[in-house]
Amino acid sequence: MVKIAPSILSADFMRLGEQVKLVEAAGVDRVQVDVMDGRFVPNITFGTIAVRALRPLTRMVLEAHLMVTPPEDFIEAFAAAGADTIIVHQESTPHLHRVLEHITSLGKKPAVALNPSTPASTLTEVLDMVKLVLVMTVNPGFGGQKFIHATLPKVRQVRAAIQNRGLECEVEVDGGINEETIRLAAEAGADVMVAGSSVYDAPEGAQEAIARLLASAQTT
Ligand code: DX5
Repeated sequence: MVKIAPSILSADFMRLGEQVKLVEAAGVDRVQVDVMDGRFVPNITFGTIAVRALRPLTRMVLEAHLMVTPPEDFIEAFAAAGADTIIVHQESTPHLHRVLEHITSLGKKPAVALNPSTPASTLTEVLDMVKLVLVMTVNPGFGGQKFIHATLPKVRQVRAAIQNRGLECEVEVDGGINEETIRLAAEAGADVMVAGSSVYDAPEGAQEAIARLLASAQTT
């Protein structure tokens, strides 16, 4: 069963609380908070303030996608702010094993993200430590970008590695997810789809957009 994880990056920040409640009412179980530091990615968004603000407003899972370096400096703060899942980029630290252990020790869900140029094989030593692998289907930094189809074989590889080891681990994709690409991602083995602009910029509204994305994913 495919799940949608709306990304707040494309939400109307003048009404962020309402925008999160809107997607919660549509039945999604999580939202993704896109944390960017202007160093790991060429854009700056927000830090723990966004997680802290949203925490009391929703029972949904808050996924903190840390597009920052070094992420180890921020794990405690995002855990304390109320993040449930903390997603760290493979490329953002030489100490990924230690960071994932730290996330787990804080009782949070450990997750790792791979940029489009990073092979799935870089997960070999840490795949057993994570509960979610995020395969970026765009180069991180901005919403509204075009889906990179060349990332689909990697989604398959990650799914196969999880199955071969008998692990309980979600495969999430992020970037350029729309009614057409969600089918490709689902066919490749992704079960969680991060969607920003296709949800919050949809003329039909976020709730209808989510319904359409889910319906499209079921047609695989
Ligand atoms: C990294 C961001 C975006 C965002 C999704 O750039 O994490 O991928 O969440 O953006 P859309 O769905 O608009 O491509």
